Amino acid sequence: MSNFKLGFIGAGFIAKFQAKAIAQIRGIDLAGVCALKGAEELAGYAKENDIGDCVVYDSISELCSNVDAVAIFAPNFARVQIMQEIADAVAEGAVLKGVMCEKPLGRTVIEAQQLVDLANKAKLPTAYFENQIHMKGIRAQMEQLAPVQATMGPLSLARSSEEHSGPHEGWFWDPTRQGGGVLSDMGCHSIAVGWYVLTPVGKPVTFLEPISVSAVTSLLKWGIPKYRKQLLDRMGVDYNKVPAEDFATGIVTFKNPETGQLVQAQFTNSWMYDKQGLRLLMDGLGPGYAFELNSLNSPLEVFIGDEAAEAVADSETALEKATASRGLLTVETNEADLYGYVDEIADAVKNFKQNKDAYLNFAYGLEITKLCQAAYMSAEKGQTVYLSDPATQAELKNYKSLISQGRGGEILHIG
Ligand SMILES: NC(=O)c1ccc[n+]([C@@H]2O[C@H](COP(=O)([O-])OP(=O)(O)OC[C@H]3O[C@@H](n4cnc5c(N)ncnc54)[C@H](O)[C@@H]3O)[C@@H](O)[C@H]2O)c1
Repeated sequence: MSNFKLGFIGAGFIAKFQAKAIAQIRGIDLAGVCALKGAEELAGYAKENDIGDCVVYDSISELCSNVDAVAIFAPNFARVQIMQEIADAVAEGAVLKGVMCEKPLGRTVIEAQQLVDLANKAKLPTAYFENQIHMKGIRAQMEQLAPVQATMGPLSLARSSEEHSGPHEGWFWDPTRQGGGVLSDMGCHSIAVGWYVLTPVGKPVTFLEPISVSAVTSLLKWGIPKYRKQLLDRMGVDYNKVPAEDFATGIVTFKNPETGQLVQAQFTNSWMYDKQGLRLLMDGLGPGYAFELNSLNSPLEVFIGDEAAEAVADSETALEKATASRGLLTVETNEADLYGYVDEIADAVKNFKQNKDAYLNFAYGLEITKLCQAAYMSAEKGQTVYLSDPATQAELKNYKSLISQGRGGEILHIG
C-alpha cells in the first residue's frame, strides 16, 4: 500500500516540529508544502531525512489537489482564509481525506465556528491538534490509574500549566493578530488537558459539562519599561499601545452529568517563566491516588561551565524555548514524541483513512475556544462566568476580548 500523503500549510516552527514527528510514524509522507516563507527549507529537510519527496506548491488549491490530507500550520490570523481556500479547492474537485488544524481553532468563537462550518460544508473529516491530550505520559497515567479510578472514583482536581519565556515570532505577541496573549496561545492547551484528565476513563472528551470559568489575566513582566523596550526592539510589538497578558490563571468547574459530582481544573500559563525552557506541569488528585508529570524531569542533564560556554551551538536543540546555554541543563531527546505530536498525527491519519474524524475534531476545538474566551470574559468582568446561563452563551457567540481588540490597556497594568 502506498504511503499516506500529507501536505503542510505553513513551514515555520510547528511545521518543523511536526516533520520530526512524521519521521517517527510508518506509512506517512510529507508530500507537499505551501507557505509564505520557509517552504524550500522544509522540503529540503523532508528529503534529507527521507520523510517524503516534498513538493513546494504556490497555492493551497494546488497542494490540495496533490495530497491525501492537509494540515494548517500557519498563524492564527490566517485560519479562516486558509480553511476557505481548502473548502474552495474541494468544491473545485480536490479529493481530500481530511484536514488537520493546530490550536487555537479560532481567535474567537465566531472564527472557530466558521472553521467547523467550512469543514462540514466540504464534508471533510477533521483533526483539531491538541497535542497534550496525546502525550504518552498523560495516556499512561490514565491507563495505570484506571482500575484505581474504578474502585475509588475519578479525579476531582486537575492542575495544568504550560510556561516559557515568550514566543519566537512577533505575531504571537501582537494580541490583534494572535487573538490575545498567553491565555489564547497556551491556555487552550492547559484547559483542554485539565478537562481530559478529569474525564472518567472510557467517557467521551466532552462528557463532563463545563459549568463555570473564573480567571485573571495580568501583565507581570513584559509591561515593565525595560522589557517593553526589549519586546519592541526584538519583535516590533509595542506593549505601551497594544498590551497582552503574559500571565493567566483560572479555574474551570465541570459537572459529571451521571453523578452530579463537581470537579475542577486549574490552569496557569505564562510567558515569563525564565527558567530552563518550556515546562509542562500537570497533576491530578483523586481520592487516595494522584499523578504528576513534569516535562523538565528528563533522565538526561548536561553541564556546561563558563569556560566551555563559548562552544555551545544552539541551546534550543536541547529543549524548546531554552533560555540558557551553560550550567546544569535539561535535555529532552525526543520532544516531538514527549509533547504528543507523534501520536496526534498518527491518530488523525489512522482515522482519516477510515473516513472518520480524529479523536479530537473541530467541534471539540470549538468547545475549547469557548472555554478560553469565557476565561477572557471572566477576567474582564472580574467575576465568575456561568456557562449554563443562556445569556452568557449568547454573549460568548459574538465576544471579542478587549485585549484582542488592542484595548488591553483598559484592563492590564502597564508598568
Ligand atoms: N501545539 C503547539 O504546541 C504549538 C506550538 C507552536 C505553534 N502552534 C500553532 O501553530 C500555528 C503556527 O505557529 P508557528 O509557531 O509555526 O508560526 P511561525 O510564524 O513560526 O510559522 C508560520 C508559517 O506559516 C506561514 N504562513 C503565514 N501566513 C500564511 C498563509 N496565509 N498561507 C500559508 N502560509 C502562511 C509562514 O510563512 C510560516 O511558514 C499557530 O496557530 C500556533 O498557535 C502550536
